[in-house]
Amino acid sequence: MEYKICVIGSGYVGLTMAACFAIRGMKVTCVDVDKERIEKIKRGEPPIHEPGLKEIVAEVTSDGMLKATEDYAEGMKGAEFSFICVGTPSKPDGSIDLSHVISAAEAVGKNLHLASKNHLVVVKSTVVPGTTSKIVAPILESSSGMKIGQDFSLIFNPEFLREGSAVEDTFHPDRIIIGEYDEGSGKKLLDLYKEFYNNLLPPYIITNTVNAELIKYANNAFLATKISFINEIANICQRIPGADVEIVAKGIGLDKRIGPLFLKAGLGYAGPCLPKDLSALIAYAQSLGYGPLLLRAVQHTNENQPYRAVLLAKNLLNTLKGKRVALLGLVFKPNTDDIRNAISLKLINMLLKEGAQVAVFDPKGLENAKKLLGNAVVYANSAVECIKDADCCIVVTEWDEFRKLRPEDFVKSMRNPIIIDGRRVYDPKEFSGKLTYVAIGYCPS
Ligand code: UGA
Repeated sequence: MEYKICVIGSGYVGLTMAACFAIRGMKVTCVDVDKERIEKIKRGEPPIHEPGLKEIVAEVTSDGMLKATEDYAEGMKGAEFSFICVGTPSKPDGSIDLSHVISAAEAVGKNLHLASKNHLVVVKSTVVPGTTSKIVAPILESSSGMKIGQDFSLIFNPEFLREGSAVEDTFHPDRIIIGEYDEGSGKKLLDLYKEFYNNLLPPYIITNTVNAELIKYANNAFLATKISFINEIANICQRIPGADVEIVAKGIGLDKRIGPLFLKAGLGYAGPCLPKDLSALIAYAQSLGYGPLLLRAVQHTNENQPYRAVLLAKNLLNTLKGKRVALLGLVFKPNTDDIRNAISLKLINMLLKEGAQVAVFDPKGLENAKKLLGNAVVYANSAVECIKDADCCIVVTEWDEFRKLRPEDFVKSMRNPIIIDGRRVYDPKEFSGKLTYVAIGYCPS
């Protein structure tokens, strides 16, 4: 069956989903208020870097399966499904800012009369429990003059894809979570997913909207907890001669109850999701009169983690004033061009305050960094150019191309061959003898 789908919001979630639906033979229209984004998609160019997305978007825009518009009416016309995938940023106090979800719900409601009968509205944006039922549902009903469960349906269906592997995760998710507002509506969404996954549905849970909303937050909070936990162990390792957090993580990861993933110690978790979602969950819990001690500790540990690298640099160089510090990596994780909330930005801020001169390189993040940082740092065109004449190098993002550098490359180029490996990219045994090598969670015997 050729479904007609309207996807509102063309960020990582919306655009990836839209392009993947389209490549599976569904007719998809992306709606976004950002004209520049829409123009790019129309030309077949994704406005974000995501492995595999460029090829898919080029194909589905050229064969007309994926369209893009700023006009809700055009997107909603005849659509059986609309997916709300707009951002939910943080307010200054850490709580969730629902303004984009609210305006998207209003616009969907106003144009619902153009959609196909029994239309299903699916909220994908990460929202705190109660948002779908107490905010989105009344807005949809009042702006459309129609009734949920009678004229159309509403579901909250969280997204779990990761940046850097968004396409892969869309085609191979661990599970599908469906929060039904009106009973029985989940089946309609499952039918769409059955078609999408060629009848091989991943495990799924159908529940109410609040459980589904909380599953998304609990998921990200647990991932953040694992990272802060291993970073805490790393900080302890750092003080024990002979200790290495990588070995400790491997050892505990073999316990089936713990598992090996998300135990990579480093400079902390970053990006547009985990920090924001943890803040929103903490603020939400507080609004219910509950102080979430563990979640606050996870956040606190993470906020302190980048300082470790600066402290290490300061200890090794005595002062950072006038020193040239090279940062390898700017984006919050490899295989993206996303520098939102990246650790590099925190490091740059701290290093500049200490009076250091900062040189940076990133294979994909330079363009976005320039928009944000202007002349505050020196931009290099390669890793080798970045470390040239540096007094210290901090590895911030674990890009594969940084792994190719050998100790000799650092010794040859740097004024002072000191590496602070914030992502455990290099083998301490190979690097330690040849230059000053320090790494998060590693303490030589
Ligand atoms: C995260 C979740 O993993 C997704 O399931 C979720 O859909 C998404 O947020 C979202 O809410 O939209 P993402 O932020 O794209 O995805 O990337 P992650 O792979 O989770 O990495 C987040 C941060 O944690 C990165 O800075 C990464 O370097 C750091 N990290 C990750 C570690 O420091 N150690 C690890 O072991 C793993």
